Amino acid sequence: MNTDLLVVGSGFFGLTIADRAARELGLRVTVIDRRPHIGGNAYSENEPQTGIEVHRYGAHLFHTSNERVWEYVNRFTTFTDYVHRVYTQHRGEVFPMPINLGTINQFFRSAYGPDAARELIREQAGELAGTDPQNLNDKGIQLIGRPLYEAFIKHYTAKQWQTDPSELPAEVISRLPVRYTYDNRYFNDTYEGLPTDGYTAWLERMADHPNIDVHLDTDFFDESQPFSKGNAVGQVPVVYTGPVDRYFDYAEGALQWRTLDFEEEVLPTGDFQGTSVMNYPDADVPFTRIHEFRHFHPERDWYPTDRTVIMREFSRFAEQGDEPYYPVNTAADRERLLKYRTLAKQERDVLFGGRLGTYKYLDMHMAIGSALTMFDNRLRPFLEGSGPLE
Ligand code: FDA
Repeated sequence: MNTDLLVVGSGFFGLTIADRAARELGLRVTVIDRRPHIGGNAYSENEPQTGIEVHRYGAHLFHTSNERVWEYVNRFTTFTDYVHRVYTQHRGEVFPMPINLGTINQFFRSAYGPDAARELIREQAGELAGTDPQNLNDKGIQLIGRPLYEAFIKHYTAKQWQTDPSELPAEVISRLPVRYTYDNRYFNDTYEGLPTDGYTAWLERMADHPNIDVHLDTDFFDESQPFSKGNAVGQVPVVYTGPVDRYFDYAEGALQWRTLDFEEEVLPTGDFQGTSVMNYPDADVPFTRIHEFRHFHPERDWYPTDRTVIMREFSRFAEQGDEPYYPVNTAADRERLLKYRTLAKQERDVLFGGRLGTYKYLDMHMAIGSALTMFDNRLRPFLEGSGPLE
């Protein structure tokens, strides 16, 4: 096999590994992806009628407090000064999110200061004080009180899970953030922004090296292609970032995921909602949120002023053939995952990484950070000939 390393999956995890092996060690790396494009779920493209950049697999906001990751990503792209803020539309009224002093005062038609608001929420959450909540509904009430929970969380969660929260385990949420200030920045990280010339340009620069060979439309489990599981494993070290259960042919059962459906529309107006993301937490609206992509890049003065692109997001359990987005992570899933981890450890010459390979929701900075760590601690010693692949 004419390569030193095979990387399965061209998302941020796979491309970080490929970059390090090629640029740092000078090795020849083959990257395969079963999709027709590079970049995994962070992939974006310009909507053809408007030229507005659309994140194909849902809105992607970059943020990190990890200095090493920040330094690393800046090798491939600069970032705009975009700061993410989310609003939510409840019963015909728009509130700031996450729940903060602005949300509380608007909701209760009041002018509480931080201490009074804290006291109010404590009092309302006291309805179930001292009890051990057995389901998500009771847990939500215990965390922030019934009025705010029922307005902003209950039906939104029901839509996300297609399940009434009283039937969902309490452990799905451990906390519901409430801010007793007017700060409605969505992320608290040191660094935040969007790639100046888009995600795909960033991802392509990572792969742009004479030693990196990318093969799209190439499935690792298609035995008719040269970089398949049967042809590669044992012949060349492999970093696999596809679904871990698929690798073992679902021997321990399928891990469950939630997926999203997106409904995109080009509208004949320069601005539909005045902001990038609007949540819809009410039961009578079938979608969970609307993204309006032009607002991610207010600096792009070439975007048309008479048209805009919106995307409604619907959430449901993934079935076979759907894109896996968020791990469902039931107790049964966790049990299966442990068995897959044991199998993965026994798989010589293959390392499992990324969100699908570890069955873990990872933000982009986490996927990149864990790929850098895997490269340093596990891959590099092996590729330099000073240790086994483990
Ligand atoms: P990723 O899924 O990107 O890549 C895996 C690749 O492997 C895919 O391209 C897939 O086609 C390929 N593959 C799978 N099986 C294969 C096979 N058999 N053969 C060949 N190739 C195969 N993060 C963040 O920081 N901010 C945000 O706002 C968001 N928003 C967001 C929204 C939604 C809806 C989701 C689902 C995720 C986010 N993320 C995010 C997370 C972000 O998408 C995530 O961190 C990266 O996708 C992780 O990169 P990976 O390389 O691990 O997986």
